[in-house]
Amino acid sequence: MEQTLLIIKPDAVNRDLIGEILKRVEKDGFRIEELKMLRVTPEEGSRFYQVHKGKPFYQELVDYISSGRIVVTHLKREKAVEKLRELIGATDPRKAEKGTIRADFGLDICHNSVHASDSNENAKIEIDFFFGKKS
Ligand code: CMP
Repeated sequence: MEQTLLIIKPDAVNRDLIGEILKRVEKDGFRIEELKMLRVTPEEGSRFYQVHKGKPFYQELVDYISSGRIVVTHLKREKAVEKLRELIGATDPRKAEKGTIRADFGLDICHNSVHASDSNENAKIEIDFFFGKKS
């Protein structure tokens, strides 16, 4: 079984969308393996998003992810990375397919309600980042 990481970002947490988003995730066949609510520091946020360092939106992204509480979930499913990306839709909510989480709840490209790992390799790195390395 594959694994991936989903983050429910501050805009969705602040609008009481945790339950609705997790319901969609579970209905789509994902098993929630681990879950926690936390707030990252700007330093942790910049480490998490370091692949985007140097991009024009980097500082805004780091400021935003560290601006409020987030919910982080370690998920399992067949083809987890691909299936979760389908379920959440395109990065920009305006371009996301109707019925996807970002199309339904995202406010703009920065406040886009959720983050999901984009590859198996990054899923492992991101799960380790939030839940610690497992032997
Ligand atoms: P996420 O899946 O969390 O991964 C990186 C984030 O960068 C992405 O969602 C968006 O929120 C953000 N992002 C990507 N492109 C842009 C952009 N052009 N302007 C602002 N934010 C962006």
